[in-house]
Amino acid sequence: MTPRTVFRTLAVTEAITWVALLTGMFVKYAVGTTELGVQVAGPIHGVAFIAYCLVTVVVAVDQRWSRRRTLLGLVSAVPPLMTVWFDRHVEKRDGLDDRWHSRQDSDAAPQRAVSLLLRHRRRALAGFVVTVAALTGIALLAGPPVG
Ligand code: HEM
Repeated sequence: MTPRTVFRTLAVTEAITWVALLTGMFVKYAVGTTELGVQVAGPIHGVAFIAYCLVTVVVAVDQRWSRRRTLLGLVSAVPPLMTVWFDRHVEKRDGLDDRWHSRQDSDAAPQRAVSLLLRHRRRALAGFVVTVAALTGIALLAGPPVG
């Protein structure tokens, strides 16, 4: 997968889980029949949120986003559907392409770290899954931010 496809997949997934959570909230508060939608969509959205943030950091390093753009990318995970807006925003500004830029001999240490991940994709994917699971566990123990 390229930086563009990885980022877009996570941005769209995050937005879809927001729609599911909003639907659950509509049923919970407006219809008032069941809380099940929120109870199911809440943790799924939580996992998508964490996965999106991790991928944003990796893609930001690789695509050499400025701190401001990286922060905007992370903050876009908070309001509903803004990750899709952000994806279009960077695309229009040539901030996402289909080539990984990180190299073993890159001048910046974070890019060398991303290059290491790219050279060991299977292990990087396993590490990603473990990290998302660990952060999800911590967030669930800490309690959902809303509700
Ligand atoms: C900025 C990020 C997040 C936002 C804006 C957010 C927002 C929300 C909202 C609005 C609800 C519905 C609450 C209600 O009305 O009942 C909710 C539910 C929930 N969220 Fe999050 N959330 C975020 C991150 C997370 C994370 C990281 C986790 C953990 C993995 C998480 C776990 C949950 C759970 C378990 C529920 C369901 C609570 C219940 O059963 O009532 N959320 N979240």
